Amino acid sequence: MNEETITLCTIDEIPTNSSKGFTVGKHTIFVVNHAGQFHAYLNRCPHLGIRLEWQPDQFLDTDARLIQCATHGALFLIETGLCIAGPCAGQRLTKLACHLANQQLCVTLPCSPT
Ligand code: FES
Repeated sequence: MNEETITLCTIDEIPTNSSKGFTVGKHTIFVVNHAGQFHAYLNRCPHLGIRLEWQPDQFLDTDARLIQCATHGALFLIETGLCIAGPCAGQRLTKLACHLANQQLCVTLPCSPT
């Protein structure tokens, strides 16, 4: 499978315990800054294959402890994307590799973004 690593944003665009959505070519993805650790996922709920957020950049529950799907309320662990409650319990979000480089967040997409 082809992969492509892109620079997504500067890390200060995603404050601690917040999330942010991005569209990169045909991909919609989101990133969570959880206590200074960044986690990136495809924005696709394993239940129905649709986007998770209810408002732009709102991917977390009210305590910012879990990722939450707006449609049926599935809850996912931020670190692994494992669904721990809801209609797709036991399934996972698709995690993307990400790393920091010079205060920039870089994400590896599963194939070309074009
Ligand atoms: S579409 Fe996400 S829980 Fe149903």
